[in-house]
Amino acid sequence: MATGLGKVILLGEHAVVYGHAALAMGLDRGASAEGVLGVGASELRLPSWDRTVRADRSSDEPLARAFAAIVGEGAPVVVTANAAIPAGAGLGCSAALGVAVARAVGEARGETLGDAEAIERAMAWERVFHGNPSGIDATLAALGGVMLFQKGAPAVRVRLRGPLVAVVADTNEPSATKDMVESVRRQREEDPARVAKVFDGIEALVRNGRASLEAGDLGALGKLLDLNQTLLASLLLSTPSVERLVAAARGAGALGAKLTGAGGGGCVVALAGDAASADRIEAALRNESPTVLRAEVTP
Ligand code: PMV
Repeated sequence: MATGLGKVILLGEHAVVYGHAALAMGLDRGASAEGVLGVGASELRLPSWDRTVRADRSSDEPLARAFAAIVGEGAPVVVTANAAIPAGAGLGCSAALGVAVARAVGEARGETLGDAEAIERAMAWERVFHGNPSGIDATLAALGGVMLFQKGAPAVRVRLRGPLVAVVADTNEPSATKDMVESVRRQREEDPARVAKVFDGIEALVRNGRASLEAGDLGALGKLLDLNQTLLASLLLSTPSVERLVAAARGAGALGAKLTGAGGGGCVVALAGDAASADRIEAALRNESPTVLRAEVTP
């Protein structure tokens, strides 16, 4: 069984599209896929969405084009894939599927696919859905852990002092990453100086966030998450339901909380000081959200 992991961005979404660094944390779940050699055209089956497509570069269906970008010209493969995280929620579901499908295709063909190759193929898949993905989702989907990511540079694994525990809650307000990235692009075109200042501020939070993690100062990291939420809201990426979940998490003792991923709905990430605090945050968020999950990375 091939897999790809979901992720939460702790600091730096959107700025990362323009070459700034971001910090992200892999989830312990994401997508899984299994491939067998087929005859004729390659086929992708997604039973949870009740969808089956044939790989076709010139199809009107994005899924058929994305799958074609992964299978390329090699032997035909039939892949069945499933996701264990919600789609369109900012948790990197499409990249997790992309990595799982790329690895399943490799396994079925008897190829040894390295992480770099799996990331590259998942990026080709992601480009069909997102236009201009930074690559942070595909990188975390393949590697997991806590990573400092910057476009065009090798991702750096962040050395943790202790366990990092976060609680993730879905607003249940789906949003399209492509639309949110497009909204930021428009704002940048209209007022480049304002958006550049916001991105520089976000980058400073990311650099400090890495230092806080390496020093084991979770309290400082939490404050950086709160500041990042304010900067994301200034880019019109927050919503009343995001604010409600952020407030509930902070009220339950989170060290910091913010939207994660594209925004405009989607998920919120709340940083917990320890497992007991995460339990309290989780209980508070369950009153507000139908989907709450724990993210934990140990050193
Ligand atoms: O919403 P997601 O999980 O696709 O995350 C998007 C993160 C962005 O920075 C908004 C876009 C990107 O490509 O990095």
